[in-house]
Amino acid sequence: IIPSHASPDDFPQCLSAASIPSQLVFTQRSPSFTSVLVSSIRNPRFFTPSTVRPQWILTPTNASHVQAAVVCGRRHGVRLRVRSGGHDYEGLSYRSQRPEVFAVVDLSSLRAVRIDTRSTTAWVDSGATLGELYYAVAQASDRLAFPAGLCPTIGVGGHLSGGGFGTLLRKYGLASDNVLDAVLVDADGRLLDRTAMGSDVFWALRGGGGESFGIVLSWQVRLVPVPPTVTAFRIPVAAAGDGERAVDVVTRWQEVAPALPDDLFIRALVQNQSATFESLYLGTCDELVPVMRRRFPELGMNRTHCQEMTWIQTVPYFFLGAGATVEDILNRTTSLSTYTKMTSDYVRQAIRRDAWVSIFGKLAEPNAGLMILDPYGGARIGAVPEPATPFPHRAGVLYNIQYVSFWSANGDGSAHTKWVRDFYAFMAPYVSSSPREAYFNYRDLDLGENVVVGNVSSYEAGKVWGEKYFGDNYKRLAMVKGEIDPDDYFRNEQSIPPLVLGN
Ligand code: FDA
Repeated sequence: IIPSHASPDDFPQCLSAASIPSQLVFTQRSPSFTSVLVSSIRNPRFFTPSTVRPQWILTPTNASHVQAAVVCGRRHGVRLRVRSGGHDYEGLSYRSQRPEVFAVVDLSSLRAVRIDTRSTTAWVDSGATLGELYYAVAQASDRLAFPAGLCPTIGVGGHLSGGGFGTLLRKYGLASDNVLDAVLVDADGRLLDRTAMGSDVFWALRGGGGESFGIVLSWQVRLVPVPPTVTAFRIPVAAAGDGERAVDVVTRWQEVAPALPDDLFIRALVQNQSATFESLYLGTCDELVPVMRRRFPELGMNRTHCQEMTWIQTVPYFFLGAGATVEDILNRTTSLSTYTKMTSDYVRQAIRRDAWVSIFGKLAEPNAGLMILDPYGGARIGAVPEPATPFPHRAGVLYNIQYVSFWSANGDGSAHTKWVRDFYAFMAPYVSSSPREAYFNYRDLDLGENVVVGNVSSYEAGKVWGEKYFGDNYKRLAMVKGEIDPDDYFRNEQSIPPLVLGN
C-alpha cells in the first residue's frame, strides 16, 4: 500500500541507498532536468508551463536500477511513469493529467539490440527506437526485417506493449504478435521472464498496453524474411479541382486493399481534395505491375511508379522523405515544432461513395486535418483468433483510420481540436460500433479516463475506453492486472484497472 504522506527526500535517499548513481537521478532543480525531460517529447501540447511534470527523472543503465526504483517508489509513495520513446499521443509517459507526485523512469539508456541470424530472433531493449532495431536487423542480414511502425523514433517499449503496425502488417501481423519472450519488472520489483511471469501476464504484455503490468526491460522478437529487393510506390490522386477521381479511387481501395495478396500493402493518406497511395510490395517491379493492373486498375499504377530498393531503404522512404538515408533512421532527435491531436477508428464495412463525397467535404473545411487509412486483411492479422492476444481488431476489419489534426506554435489549437472532435462524431455512422473500436497506440483521452475509487482505478468506469481498445479482452486484462498489481501501483489515466474476483 502506498503511504499518502512521504517526505520529499525519502525517495531519492532510498534510491541512493540502493546504489543508484546520483548522476542518473534528476530533480526539478537539476540543471539538465528540462533537457532530459524534453529529450523525447514529440508533442509540444504536453510541454507547457501548466503541464504536470515529474518530480524526478531516473535514467537507469541496468535492470537493478529499475527494480530499486519500483521498490523505493512503493515504499515512499511515489508512482512511476515509464518512458521508452516518448511518442505517447497523450504524453502519459512523462506528464499527468491531474496534479500528482511521480517520477519518470526513462529507459533511453537501455537500448541494446542483439540479433541472432541463426534462430532469426533478436533481443531488443525497450529504450531502443524502431530505427535502431531496424538498422541492426538490416546490418545482420538483407533478408530479414521486423514488422512494426513507420516512424523510426518510436520507442520499442511503448510500441510493442500496445500492438505496433506498419507496412508489413498484412504479411506478418503486429509487432506484438512477433514477441517470443520479455523481461518485466513487476510492482514488487521482481525481474520476471516469460516462464516466471506466467502465461496470463505474458499474454497481457503483447498488446494490452504500456504502464499497466510493470516495466518491460527487453523483448525477444521473431524476425521475418523479406526478399533482397522490394518495391515501393507513392501515387497522388487528384489535386484540387479533381476531387471526384480521388473519391472513386478511395471508394474502390476499401474493397481492394484488404483482399490483395499478403505481400502487397497499400495505404491511403486523404487530405484536402486528394488521396496519396503509398505501397510496399515484397517483390520486384516486374512482379508487381501485373498484380496492380489486374487487381487495382483504377489507381493507374505502371512501372514508372516503381521504386525498387532494399527493405531497410523503405524506412526513410516512407517516413523521412526525399534525400533521407538509412543512417538517418538512427537519429533520435525529435522536434517540438508541430502540435497534434489524433484519434482512430476501425472500418468493417466499406463506406459508400456518397458518404465519401461528404467526407471529402469535411476535409475541405478550415482547420481540417487528414486521414490515414491502413489496410488490414491478410493471414497474419486476420487469422489470429480475437482472444489469442489482447489486440481485438482482426478478422473482418477492412482498415484502420487515424485522424490527424496538427497546428504550429502560432495557434492555440482549439479550432483544430474542435475540428477533429466534430469529424470523429460525424464519422460514427460509417465505422465500427458496439463498441466503436479504437487502436490503443493511437491513444486518445477523449475516449475516457480512469476513475480512481478507494485508491484503485475502477474496472467499471474503465470499460468506457477499455472496451474500445480491447473489446472482450478488456475483462481478462483487468483480471491479469488484478493478479500482478492488485494495488494498482502502475497506473495512469488509461491503464488497465485491477479486477480481483470475489471482492
Ligand atoms: P512512450 O514512451 O510515450 O510510451 C507509451 C506508453 O507505454 C506510456 O503509457 C508508457 O508509460 C508505456 N511504456 C513505455 N515504455 C514502457 C515499457 N518499457 N514498459 C511498460 N510500459 C511502457 N503506431 C503504430 O502502430 N504504427 C505507426 O506507424 C505509428 N506511427 C507513429 C508516428 C508518430 C510520429 C507517433 C508520435 C506515433 C506513432 N505511432 C505509431 C504510435 C506509437 O506506436 C505509440 O505512441 C507508442 O506507444 C509509442 O511508444 P514509445 O515507447 O515511443 O512511447
